[in-house]
Amino acid sequence: MNGIVFFKTTDLPLIKQFYSKVLELPEWLDQGTCAIFKIGNQLIGFCQGEFAETAGTITFFLASRYEVDAAYSKFKEIAISQPQPNPGYSVYHFWGRDPEGRSLEFQCFEHALKPHLALDEGLASRRSIRKYLAEPVEEALLNQVFELCRYAPTANNAQSYYYIVIKQQDILSKIVALRGPAGDPILAAPYAIAVASRGNVSRRKVQDACIAAYHLLLAAKAYGLGTCWVTDMDKDEVKELLGVPKDDYIACLTPIGFPAESFSLPKRHEIASFVRQL
Ligand SMILES: Cc1cc2nc3c(=O)[nH]c(=O)nc-3n(C[C@H](O)[C@H](O)[C@H](O)COP(=O)(O)O)c2cc1C
Repeated sequence: MNGIVFFKTTDLPLIKQFYSKVLELPEWLDQGTCAIFKIGNQLIGFCQGEFAETAGTITFFLASRYEVDAAYSKFKEIAISQPQPNPGYSVYHFWGRDPEGRSLEFQCFEHALKPHLALDEGLASRRSIRKYLAEPVEEALLNQVFELCRYAPTANNAQSYYYIVIKQQDILSKIVALRGPAGDPILAAPYAIAVASRGNVSRRKVQDACIAAYHLLLAAKAYGLGTCWVTDMDKDEVKELLGVPKDDYIACLTPIGFPAESFSLPKRHEIASFVRQL
């Protein structure tokens, strides 16, 4: 089930202009007398009416203080307070108003969150993270990520894939030495995960392991964790260090941890350049 919160407005064109042009929110559905905007996992609709519903607060939450400060610089004209911490809720936030007086709050949570990203936003905002906080991911949280990894597709549903959580820095250092500088992200997080598949279980071990690896990257993203696919790991020396049978396939190693960097999307091709119609 999904949901939309609707507000009545006395001036739909003004409200549409504010939410689409000033806040730059994509319009999800135009119903003529109602406009529905999509903000991450939140759908908000405004319908033309005889009075404006302004009770409540519309809260937008961002990933970090850095992003809240950036939103403050961008929306200074509609802000009515400066960004500040609110320890009671463990958030960092500022307040603003829309043209009809609704309270708008821009914040980040300063603690780990349960998954909230819609699939489209998760796919669009996953990045390769190469800087991490020193705080390790607790086992309980990591198990929640692995719980999502149970749903990775495999050829014949053979479920040939497996993950190795590597906390021993001496092993990680040896693997990075084999890989060279492109392997450095592995040492940037408190630990790393190898993604492999069993050659004696599936004839599609390469596909199975690669999908399981990408599934891990997305599942980690859902829990606010960073990852980075480090390739060229299907080597006898790496297998020996990890106790992986020679016939298995190692798709990658990824660091896993809380991101210490955020940046925008590297340049991507337009769809016309990678979709062909026959
Ligand atoms: C098959 C594959 C191999 C990669 N190997 C490495 C690697 O060895 N080291 C590294 O730092 N990043 C590696 N990456 C991450 C890419 O550099 C990254 O995905 C790309 O620059 C796009 O950035 P994004 O993941 O933030 O969208 C690899 C990614 C893929 C899919």
